Amino acid sequence: MCGIIGCAGRGDATLDTLLTGLGNLEYRGYDSAGVALANESLDVAKKSGELDALREAVADRTLHGSVGVGHTRWSTHGPPTDANAHPHQDCTGDVAVVHNGIIENYQQLRDELAADGHEFRSDTDTEVVPHLVEAALADGADPEAAVRQALARLEGSYAVAVVVAGVDAVFAARQDSPLVLGVADGATYLASDVPAFREYTDRVVYLEDGEFARVEAGGFEVTDFEGNAREVTVDTVDWDPEDTGKSGYDHFMLKEIHEQPRALRQCLQGRVDELGADVSLEVDPDVDRVQFVACGTSYHAALYAARLFRSAGVPAQAFLAHEYALDVPPIEDDLVVGVSQSGETADTLAALREARRRGARTLACTNVVGSTMARECDETLYIRSGPEIGVAASKTFSAQLAALNLLALSTVGPGDEQMREVIAALRDLPGDVQAVLDDTNAAEVAREYVDSDGFFFIGRGANFPVALEGALKLKEISYAHAEGFAAGELKHGTLALVTEDTPVFAVVTGDGEAARKTIGNVKEVEARDAPVVAVTDGESDVGRYADHVLEVPATNQRTAAVLANVQLQLVAYHVANELGRPIDKPRNLAKSVTVE
Ligand code: G6P
Repeated sequence: MCGIIGCAGRGDATLDTLLTGLGNLEYRGYDSAGVALANESLDVAKKSGELDALREAVADRTLHGSVGVGHTRWSTHGPPTDANAHPHQDCTGDVAVVHNGIIENYQQLRDELAADGHEFRSDTDTEVVPHLVEAALADGADPEAAVRQALARLEGSYAVAVVVAGVDAVFAARQDSPLVLGVADGATYLASDVPAFREYTDRVVYLEDGEFARVEAGGFEVTDFEGNAREVTVDTVDWDPEDTGKSGYDHFMLKEIHEQPRALRQCLQGRVDELGADVSLEVDPDVDRVQFVACGTSYHAALYAARLFRSAGVPAQAFLAHEYALDVPPIEDDLVVGVSQSGETADTLAALREARRRGARTLACTNVVGSTMARECDETLYIRSGPEIGVAASKTFSAQLAALNLLALSTVGPGDEQMREVIAALRDLPGDVQAVLDDTNAAEVAREYVDSDGFFFIGRGANFPVALEGALKLKEISYAHAEGFAAGELKHGTLALVTEDTPVFAVVTGDGEAARKTIGNVKEVEARDAPVVAVTDGESDVGRYADHVLEVPATNQRTAAVLANVQLQLVAYHVANELGRPIDKPRNLAKSVTVE
């Protein structure tokens, strides 16, 4: 979603720093971009469309300033036009503001400001902020006080960064939308996400809700909204700038698909013992019942995890976070687990906050150290997959499945036979994923079916979430219509849509009851002339009924699901690539959805 970058102390490199930061934030998803640099006056440039449009717009202009802010916007209030792009300015042009989040009382503020003669140039909620600052300045407040007074009027969620003409500082504040400072010698940065400034420093300060920062070349000061000093911790990030580069791959997503063996190794490292008889996690294993809350791909991981817990004898359910918050189920001794690669998804945060309010113990299962979820929950289980830049989740999903396996195993207790088997399979998983990546024929399958009318994905048990995820991945990056089903459900309606132009991807692993029944469903679609692609470990004879087979190594059923999903990630990638889609930045989508 929207991205913020700001810096102080970069001198003549201010504009370059802002543009580099915006480039690093592109992965979050956006539809317009802009910058503001402050010196005695403000220089502002903003454009709808890709960042290149902004780069072109500033190429033949001179923008000066020793401090500045930049923004990539993902539209909420008003379409993606130049006027709606951030930064937004006041009537005098001396104040510029970038904002992530939603100002809920903006209409009331706008009416009030308009009645006082302020002129608005955009449809956005954000534009009220510079006008509020302008009004406070006109009343005699100094710039910092004026920004604080403006913030005091806002209701809703925001991360804001403000520059004022003639002031060598960036003012920033956080309320329910992430903001992080980057600390270097002679320069200070701020951003919605660390990759924005990672090449300049690895020292960071994560702001908390209700904190205000004054960012200057020589350092920063963090206070609460009333101006009382707050203590902060300077953390060091544990990944390198190269981790967010493409390393020779055409797309981040393909790179991240190929990074899965490493991501899984990192996730498992130090958490399973040498004898395969126990797991040790940084969380309390004492769990009576579990509720999972999540959205999108993470919801599929949550569905998978709920099964794992149930099979360990622990009652567990997965909920879409946005539905959960509206209709919270009874919470007894439940652990409520938020599954979220970003740790910032507003819907999941809202569900966790509601669960906490009702007395539940909460746990964040996330990839992002210092994320809001990690800081708000009682405990955190990091999936340790390394930064993921492609909007469509790939390695984070696999690492979520591995981490959630460990969480489920930790409740079983050491020495259990099932535990030994699963740990052995988890240990093999990085190598098994590598084998899939080395031998896959997904590109060929993708070429065969790229022009199909639609795609269906079916699976049972642990492979049901894989079917859902296979369809979601394909939709997200190729824009093809795809649906995933529990294999038994297809015949209850959707079979009417199955034709010779709608390939059905059947995920069939093992040779148990789930496999046998899914093969029955495969025969049903075959009888309607639909092409069948079997994703299988070859343990059953599903291959006999399939037009194509995507093979995975035979292993435990739980980890087979991870392997089958890797094949489907590759199918989605290659279909999207054949169609020439912008794979890392699919239209309308954002990596981290920070509005409800
Ligand atoms: C967005 C992303 C999806 C992601 C979902 C949940 O919609 O585009 O890829 O699955 O958010 O994100 P989370 O960070 O909570 O896993």
